[in-house]
Formats: sequence, structure tokens, C-alpha cells
Amino acid sequence: MSSARAADRGRRAAIFEARPTLRVLCAVTLAGMLLLGAPFATRAQQPIVIKFSHVTTPDTPKGKGAEKFKELAEKYTGGKVRVEVYPNSQLYKDKEEIEALQLGAVQMLAPSTSKFAPIGIKEFEALDLPFIFPDEAGYLKATKGPVGKSLLQRLDGKGIAGLAFWDNGFHMISANKPLRKPRDLQGLKIRISGSKVADAYLRAMGALPQIIAFSELYQALQTGVVDGCENTPSNYYTQKLHEVQKHINVMNHGHLSYAVIANKKFWDGLPADIRAQLEKAMQEATDYTNSIASKENADALAAIKASGKSEVYEPTKEEREEWRQALLATYKGAESRVGKDIIAALQKETAVSQ
Ligand code: SIN
Repeated sequence: MSSARAADRGRRAAIFEARPTLRVLCAVTLAGMLLLGAPFATRAQQPIVIKFSHVTTPDTPKGKGAEKFKELAEKYTGGKVRVEVYPNSQLYKDKEEIEALQLGAVQMLAPSTSKFAPIGIKEFEALDLPFIFPDEAGYLKATKGPVGKSLLQRLDGKGIAGLAFWDNGFHMISANKPLRKPRDLQGLKIRISGSKVADAYLRAMGALPQIIAFSELYQALQTGVVDGCENTPSNYYTQKLHEVQKHINVMNHGHLSYAVIANKKFWDGLPADIRAQLEKAMQEATDYTNSIASKENADALAAIKASGKSEVYEPTKEEREEWRQALLATYKGAESRVGKDIIAALQKETAVSQ
């Protein structure tokens, strides 16, 4: 280094030392740049917070799955991640939650797959087709296979990372009158969560479907805004829907699946080692949730029966077949909405020949 350059450097160092305000300003600017440019690296001492919002109670398969993810995520990251679970629509209702995730107000959700059409992904509604899954094993096979993967990938373009599918069993259907035959639905206002596929099959049975947020369902049934609904035993029991529905038919026609999702920018921006631990936590939380769904629903159904608040009817094989045939007739119409290929792939994967 030349003596002139060394002298110049010494002068600049002296000015820096002599002017504390300049030192402070530089430090503040540097901190600001780091905060903006590398949000996770600079807050080394602060845990990364994941707000996980959902609409069911904590004592449901989804509620328990979210708590399991929290437990494992915090354990595997050694406390570098804190997961805050907000159940029961505390933060957002059905319509708002996906928007909140896209805006980054929350980082994780697990909405029912029937709620993705408003953001332009109607293919998820293929999972709402009546009797598409013969049983839980068929559902798990399909969602873990190529159809499940391709559905989750569709979320990428919407600023959403699709992480997993969580199970919540099969739908029952109810009203304040017995629903033994498809024609018993004639003229009844039935709440749906948003799926056009569900809208179409209920309309084909003569019902009048209405979209109502999950958090408003109990009141809508209680006040007669709608006459009936369809949902899983776990959701009936934890939302007390059986207390405002006199007759429940354990039809098992539809299936309730959740897509566990994250804000993509947040997820992709996580340090690679942290993301790997969270993926591991998600994998285990998914296995856990899917392993408890059947029992949770069986227990909820038993509790509903024991409560005596609603007459629970198990259809005979013949009655179920009559519903099945009537509802399968609506597949053709669904092809143009969700895609013929997806329906065919689901049928192949679940080995159901309709
Ligand atoms: C849920 O289980 O997340 C709610 C499903 C529904 O809206 O029916």
C-alpha cells in the first residue's frame, strides 16, 4: 500500500472515531439493511414465528395435527421456530384465511380442499366427488400419489406452498327430517363450504345449496337460515351441530380433506436447515393426523349417538347404493370443472370402477 493511501485511510478512520453520530448512523443503516435483506439471519436470537390459523376446535384431527406440528417444529429446530396455533376461526373465517396467508398476515393454514376455487384452483374439488374414495386407505393412497402431488403443485403460482394433505374422514348428511332417500333432500336448503362439485350434486338431488362459513354454521342451522348440512362426525360434535339437527344419516358420501399450506415467500425464504427440520415435523405431524382421523370420527359419532340429541341413522347397503347411483350420475357434469383426467386418475388410484 502506498504511503499516500495509508495516510488517507488513517484520516478517514480518525474522522469516524471522532464523530460518534456517524458511527451510530452507520450501525443503524447496516442493521436496517440486514433486517430488510436477510430477515431470518439477523434476528438470530429471536425465534421465527409461524402463525398457524384454522377454523376447527383444538380437539379435532386438524386441531390435534396443528398442535403436533407445533410440538415437533419447536423441538426439531431447538426453539429457533415458535409456532402459534390459532384455532376455531379466532383470527380468520373461511373466506378470509387464504387471503391472509397470501398477504403474509399468517404463515400456515389447513383449509378444506373444497375452499380453493376462489383463488382459481378448482381442481381440488375433484376430492369432493361423492363416493370417490372407497375408504380411508383409498384416500391416503390418492393424496400421497401423483394426483395429490400435482394438486399441491398447482398452488405454487398463487404464492402458496402446498405441504401435505390431512384427513378428516367421511361426511354425514343431516336435516330436521329423516333423509333416507335422495328425494328426501327436495327443497331443503343445505349448507356447503364452497365447492361447486358439492353444489352440483346437491342440486341434482333437488336441494338448494348455500355457502356459509364454518364458524357461522351452528347459528345458521339454529335459526333456520339453512335446513341441513353435511360434515364429518368430528366437526358435528365439536361444533355441536347435532344439537340443532334432528336427523343425521351416516352416508359417508363425501370426504373431508385438508391441504396444509404455507405462504410461499416465507417458506422458501427460511434458512435451508430450518426448512428441512420443519419438513420433517410436517411429515410426522401428517402421519399422526392421518392415523387418528378414523378413531376421532368414530369416537365423535359414538358421542353424538350417546347424547340422544339427534337420531343417527346408518343406511342399509341397498339405501346406500341408491344414493351412490344417484350421486354418481353427477360425475359427468363435474368433468368440465375439475378435469376428466383428474377424475380418471383418482378412480384408478383408488381402484374404484364406477
Ligand atoms: C373444516 O373442517 O376445516 C371445516 C370444514 C367445513 O367448512 O365444512
